[in-house]
Amino acid sequence: MKDTMDPPTMDPPATDPLEPRTLRAVLGRFATGVAVVTAASPGGPVGMTVNSFSSVSLDPPLVLFCVNRRSRLHPAFAEAEAFAVHMLGEGQRDISQRFATPGFDRFGEIRPREGLRGTPLLDGTLAVIECATEQIVAAGDHDIVIGRVVMVEAAPGAAEDPLLYYGGAYRSIESQSGWWAQLA
Ligand SMILES: Cc1cc2nc3c(=O)[nH]c(=O)nc-3n(C[C@H](O)[C@H](O)[C@H](O)COP(=O)(O)O)c2cc1C
Repeated sequence: MKDTMDPPTMDPPATDPLEPRTLRAVLGRFATGVAVVTAASPGGPVGMTVNSFSSVSLDPPLVLFCVNRRSRLHPAFAEAEAFAVHMLGEGQRDISQRFATPGFDRFGEIRPREGLRGTPLLDGTLAVIECATEQIVAAGDHDIVIGRVVMVEAAPGAAEDPLLYYGGAYRSIESQSGWWAQLA
């Protein structure tokens, strides 16, 4: 059955399935949340927007994210003994963009709190997970950073909807029918 709901960011499959544009478009069909990962570094707090966050194990409690080896922040995350993952709400696209923009003072006026392991923590996100870095696994052009959870915090009460990333664009749960409506 033809999928008439394809968003415009999705290209038709090319003949070479490993052609980067095709691969990116296909991988983009896996919807994710959006998180900001932070760590302390000798030069001050660092933070980066990621959608590669994943839970790994409940016992022991392990999570992971992937960091591009070419990222300016790669050394900071590779050397940090701890990191924190902040899950973003749908109203936090600006924070996501801020922590994804190169060559920019990402913390600016933001004064982070210190976590149990000295990690810079941001307020106002859906949830925070602080981790002790357990293992770093080289994987192609990224490193997989695995952490053992040492602290969790969740926004009290009925949490806001999450910020989603799908097809190379931000989405919200409410916008599920929005993109094709825009095409009409
Ligand atoms: C929604 C979204 C998800 C991202 N996910 C990742 C990721 O999982 N890993 C990564 O290394 N970069 C990811 N990035 C890119 C980084 O946020 C950004 O390129 C990087 O911080 C650029 O700055 P830098 O090279 O100065 O570190 C993502 C960006 C966006 C907007």
